Amino acid sequence: MQSLLILGRQPALGLAELESLFGMGAVHPVERSAALLDIDSSDVDFDRLGGSIKLASVLTVLDTTDWRKVEDYLLKSSPKHAEQLPEGKMQLGLSVYGLRVTTQHIMATGLSLKKVIKQTGRSVRLTPNKELELNSASVIHNNLTGPTGWELLFVRSGNQTIVGQTVRVQDINSYTVRDRDRPKRDTRVGMLPPKLAQIIINLAVSKSDITKGVYLLDPFCGTGVVLQEASLMSIDVYGTDIEPRMVEYTDENMMWLLKQPESPVRRPPEYDDDPSWRYFKVEVGDATTHNWLPMPSVVASETYLGKPFTAVPGNEVLNQTASDCNLIIKKFLGNIRTQLPRGARLCLAIPAWQIGRGQFKHLQLLDSLREVGYNRISFEHARDSELIYFREDQIVARELLILEKL
Ligand SMILES: C[S@@+](CC[C@H](N)C(=O)[O-])C[C@H]1O[C@@H](n2cnc3c(N)ncnc32)[C@H](O)[C@@H]1O
Repeated sequence: MQSLLILGRQPALGLAELESLFGMGAVHPVERSAALLDIDSSDVDFDRLGGSIKLASVLTVLDTTDWRKVEDYLLKSSPKHAEQLPEGKMQLGLSVYGLRVTTQHIMATGLSLKKVIKQTGRSVRLTPNKELELNSASVIHNNLTGPTGWELLFVRSGNQTIVGQTVRVQDINSYTVRDRDRPKRDTRVGMLPPKLAQIIINLAVSKSDITKGVYLLDPFCGTGVVLQEASLMSIDVYGTDIEPRMVEYTDENMMWLLKQPESPVRRPPEYDDDPSWRYFKVEVGDATTHNWLPMPSVVASETYLGKPFTAVPGNEVLNQTASDCNLIIKKFLGNIRTQLPRGARLCLAIPAWQIGRGQFKHLQLLDSLREVGYNRISFEHARDSELIYFREDQIVARELLILEKL
């Protein structure tokens, strides 16, 4: 059965991530904000997806986009469905994507639905809509993915409406804990959001990799966000950074992660008293010259991004920063090329500078990737130019560059 994904703030990133993990043919974009996936929702490892905010199983596809007709269908089919839920008060919620309807109308539909379900003898609590779609926090708070929860999604697809039932939503709390509670953070090296780290990893790991063992390297590991997120996906990790302090930070953060309930790794009892035991490798190293041993199979990294800027700098400063970053990253690519197996994949978040609304200054090395020995991987469902993570008020954006060693 197909599943339905609601994509995050930058849908192209979510689409590329899905395409990387599941293959181009299995992913079908739906309008701007969603995708159908030819995989049953129970087989999707939702926790590792940084670019999708809801996962639903597809219930049906209606040949209409007229909300009144959708409502008619719901009023007829819901009582039957409610009978199949376990006993207890039902939690109901409705989220609409791309259909022409007001929040008031959705609420009215919800109340009518509540009434027909109540007539079957079951009590119902309706989650009010402040907007057309319920956000993840509201879905979690109102228990809509619990055993007696029922969040219905209505997603416009051309002249049709896909109806789905949410099975998972992005757990914002868990991301916040991972980000804020780890012992070592450093605002100076920037704060890589865990969601973006997941996307970077998933773009580095292709469909053929997810079934076999991967050894992932982050050669600019900083405080270790990429390594943490990869570990949570049960991937073996290796990190290096030029600054000894950063290596210590990563080490401390990774040992902290081990103690978190969601960590898939456990310290073997025979090493209980061994303070030197590690489940990852981290060491000091200049990425432009380092020798990584053992050889990693994929590289996922947020590279050096240059100075942080709060306003667009003058041309001279910008050009100098771009040239510094370009030099380090190009040298790194040249160095690691000789150490990677042919076909090895890399996903690098490299800097691009927002110099006008949605206009970017890119690194020069993008024009000479073949000369350095790499092929840039493009996606069917997302343009290269869309693979830039940024917020409108940010100057330094992160361009996601996916490469394959020639
Ligand atoms: C943008 S930060 C990465 C932050 C990281 N993603 C994290 O989770 O904290 C870039 C890192 O690259 C490191 N760096 C800069 N030049 C380097 C080089 N030539 N070799 C290795 N690391 C370098 C810096 O010390 C910094 O920690």
